[in-house]
Amino acid sequence: MSELSSRREFVKTAGAAAVAASVLPLDALGLAQPRRRRYAIVGTGDRGSSMWGRALVQRYSDVLEFVGLSDVNHKRVAAAREIIGVECPTFTSFDEMCAGAKPDVLMVTTVDAYHADYIVKGLDRGMDA
Ligand SMILES: NC(=O)c1ccc[n+]([C@@H]2O[C@H](COP(=O)([O-])OP(=O)(O)OC[C@H]3O[C@@H](n4cnc5c(N)ncnc54)[C@H](O)[C@@H]3O)[C@@H](O)[C@H]2O)c1
Repeated sequence: MSELSSRREFVKTAGAAAVAASVLPLDALGLAQPRRRRYAIVGTGDRGSSMWGRALVQRYSDVLEFVGLSDVNHKRVAAAREIIGVECPTFTSFDEMCAGAKPDVLMVTTVDAYHADYIVKGLDRGMDA
């Protein structure tokens, strides 16, 4: 291919790309920001809030958003929301959190005896647990 022809080809291709970018939504071009993953915690004690939850918000808010926190103890889940620093809804029922918040990702930080049950429930609902 001659230099002139390859230049013409470049201008044609670049021009078409510029026009496409100006009229098509970014996701149609595969250029959109990936959607943030919908994150939930069940068991909002020390580990769920101070050890992991807060750090996730501080470091990874670009790729995740908290959509629900749940704990059988309503005072703990309310306190965890403050400690983690999020605005998401809180629940004392795991099932209600799943139905209402529709998380993609579930972190299980209850007392150990309930880990397996919640992991299985999360996986059954299609979440990464
Ligand atoms: N904190 C640590 O350094 C540490 C170290 C090793 C292991 N662990 C283990 O990790 C687990 C969590 O530790 P922690 O320090 O966060 O404990 P924690 O007592 O502070 O928190 C556990 C939370 O689970 C909640 N919970 C209990 N049963 C529940 C249920 N059925 N459904 C939903 N929530 C429920 C409790 O209300 C509480 O808020 C414990 O089992 C502990 O043995 C903790």
